[in-house]
Amino acid sequence: MPEASVYRYISPAASPREDPKGFIEGARGFIREHVKPEDRVKIMVSGGVDSSVTAALFHLEIGDRLHVTHVDTGFMRLIKGREEPELVADMFAGFSNFKLVDGRSLFYERVMGIPEAEDKRLGFRKAYEIITDREMADSRCNVMTQGTILPDIIETDGRVKSQHNVHLRFEKVERLVEPIAGLCKDEVRKVAECLISTYGLTALENVIRRQPFPGPGLSIRAVGRVNPEKLSIEKRVNDLVESMIEEYTRKVYGIDLYIDPETGEQVPFQSFAAIFDSELRETPALVKRELERYGIMQSVLMDTRVTGVKDTGEIGKRRFERIYSRPICIRDNIEDYGTLREVGLSVPIKTNYSRVLYKITSGEEGSPYSTVIRSVRSVDAMSADIFEIPLEKLREIGEKILTVCNVTEVYFDVSGKPPATIEYE
Ligand code: XMP
Repeated sequence: MPEASVYRYISPAASPREDPKGFIEGARGFIREHVKPEDRVKIMVSGGVDSSVTAALFHLEIGDRLHVTHVDTGFMRLIKGREEPELVADMFAGFSNFKLVDGRSLFYERVMGIPEAEDKRLGFRKAYEIITDREMADSRCNVMTQGTILPDIIETDGRVKSQHNVHLRFEKVERLVEPIAGLCKDEVRKVAECLISTYGLTALENVIRRQPFPGPGLSIRAVGRVNPEKLSIEKRVNDLVESMIEEYTRKVYGIDLYIDPETGEQVPFQSFAAIFDSELRETPALVKRELERYGIMQSVLMDTRVTGVKDTGEIGKRRFERIYSRPICIRDNIEDYGTLREVGLSVPIKTNYSRVLYKITSGEEGSPYSTVIRSVRSVDAMSADIFEIPLEKLREIGEKILTVCNVTEVYFDVSGKPPATIEYE
């Protein structure tokens, strides 16, 4: 079959920020324009807000001609002790053409053991293409839709990260129709709110305030080579960190994900844990010199490289270039966020590294893994700032991690985006 034709609703008739209902009507018109009455449409849902909103828009327009699949890639989260695929299945219980597929062996085969971030992402994409084609054939679908949004396209085209849902090569897809490809995350949430209030789609209440979760899932949070042990530690630590930060946010803002009414910034935009191999390297002289300007004398580099971005655009125009470098880990006692933020921003930029990690606590030596806590605030994921969780709270989370899992050190990532990215790979 020739390559699929791609239709993206990039310039919507109405902005969801001002007129969400107008956007929904425009998106339905876009679907009518590109989907014929005899077409059967497939969507692979992740359980996040983007694919759920896309599924809802299609379901409103074409009803049961929409076939929904959720793949358990094996890299999904534990959410408060429950496996994410079970939660997604509950959410789509009202769809007659919903299917949960076990893809774990295929994804493990393509991703486990690969050291480099982009190669891991490409392995994941390949597995996703294979399983999607299988599902298309199985449900006799010819058209596909996805919850691709604008930052996914910009980051893939800018060669920062190959997002799992952009520029895929499917064998069985005749047309790819993407109704939210012109939106950023905050706009997708506005659409979700309107689908709930005006169209009565209450199942979306479960996802509207859910933090974004990358398609390749925990495979890119178990940084470097993934193996089953590392993945299982990552799963447990990620669940712990997500829940403890959610609890903290609820205490401070009265809600687990606060949206600043003035700026539209989401606080936190994302909070999670990543697992690294505990292998370290000496800090190069250039980096040491920059750290010394802030009185920081104790530092090392993690051996595993991670992705970051360099903003090369003119003012007002963002153009990102990928950096792939080892995280700088600082071990001095700095109890002041002003300095930590400054170090997290300026040292990577001056030295061409992507990020700085600040040591929160450490356990017994000897575990092959260390953990990094990441929590950021952002409007659209194109840039992000660190969420300043009080250091004593982070230490409490770190101590809890040490009681649950055997890890050597716990760090907090003090770099925004740029110079870092939100995820590590
Ligand atoms: P980065 O790490 O590039 O991420 O700052 C920006 C936002 O995108 C999410 N992300 C992904 N989402 N497929 C997705 O659907 C992917 O392959 C992917 N990679 C990153 C990330 O979690 C953040 O919200």
